[in-house]
Amino acid sequence: MSNGVHRRPAGAAATVLVVLLVLLTLSIDTRIGLASPVCEPQVPSTCSLRQLADMTHIRLGSTAEAAETTDVNHADLLAREFNALTPENALKWYATQPTAWTWDFTDADTVVQFALDNGMQIRGHTLLWAQDTYTPAWVLGISDPTALQIEVDAQITATMDHFAGRVHRWDVVNEPLATLGTGPSDSVLWRLGPQWIADAFRLAHSVDPDAELWLNEYGTDWVPGKHEALLDLVRGLVDDGVPIHGVGLQTHRLPGFAIDPDRFIAQLRDVTSLGLQVAITELDIPISPTDPSALDQQATEYASIVTSCLRVPGCVEITTWGLSDGSTWLDSLGRFPTPTRPLLFDAAFAPKPAYRAVRDVLATAVISESSPTDSLQPTAEEPTLPVT
Ligand code: XIL
Repeated sequence: MSNGVHRRPAGAAATVLVVLLVLLTLSIDTRIGLASPVCEPQVPSTCSLRQLADMTHIRLGSTAEAAETTDVNHADLLAREFNALTPENALKWYATQPTAWTWDFTDADTVVQFALDNGMQIRGHTLLWAQDTYTPAWVLGISDPTALQIEVDAQITATMDHFAGRVHRWDVVNEPLATLGTGPSDSVLWRLGPQWIADAFRLAHSVDPDAELWLNEYGTDWVPGKHEALLDLVRGLVDDGVPIHGVGLQTHRLPGFAIDPDRFIAQLRDVTSLGLQVAITELDIPISPTDPSALDQQATEYASIVTSCLRVPGCVEITTWGLSDGSTWLDSLGRFPTPTRPLLFDAAFAPKPAYRAVRDVLATAVISESSPTDSLQPTAEEPTLPVT
């Protein structure tokens, strides 16, 4: 009895503590306008994007740099709102092998571990980027194709080996076409001969036969003729039996240009009709820094693009290129008036109208059970992530 008497106050104190914690959590949720732990899609504000994306069986991703994974503002939002993550720069050749034959995977390991710790699927971006601006200087200096091939193969092999068992999906080749054109990019990689893309995919497949292998391209949604050029290139790979499983359409939008959903959906379907998965891999929608209606227009655009993906079986991922407007790459690109404000969260990490628009589209998809994977015929096994 006496034990019971002593236990009761402790139990009451514990109950009070739990109630206080719940109230604190709810007040934080209300303050920042985000979801509570129980998601009810009929009331979208009770759901995080991640909860709805899980229910819709789609990957919803963001990017991260290593430092952002230890910044509480970034880390909490990333883990809470997204079920997928792309290292923004840490896996690129210039980051992993800045000088010849000295690899440094420290930053990439940090981002990958953060994703694994939080049960997020990883897009390994990218093994080869066919733009000289973003190729390490020591690689640009190699003019002999045989010597260059040795370096290319070493980069693919070392990176995939290092992340074997942790990263199951790779952008093997990024931006093989001219940024604003339809021909090959001016990258040194083309010195290897026209088969360099097929060779890279074959090597990647031999290094990790279970990995999903993707080709990623910029500007096919707005550069005239570029979608058709990409399709020709990819069709050639498929016809030659090259192990490719998906095509990423970056979808960096231009300020003030609404997407044509019918055309965009047709483009997504063009890819899946080749038997491949398709993904929107680098979505951002810059807007005018001054126009008061810009935030609402942006919300409409985000809704339109997410809806397009959801309407295409085989469109398996939507990743935004960055988390908050405070750290978008577009503000230092020098191409658009700044701040470009292209993402779902503002510079103070508060959700924007675009966030709510995406949330509502996903909630509607859950309610109508219009899962994008209903009729998906995947070309590769969906990898199983280690449970941490
Ligand atoms: C960008 C990063 O966001 C910047 O931080 C970096 O300085 C340059 O690269 N297409 C891609 C991405 O495939 O890797 C690019 O990311 C944006 C354009």
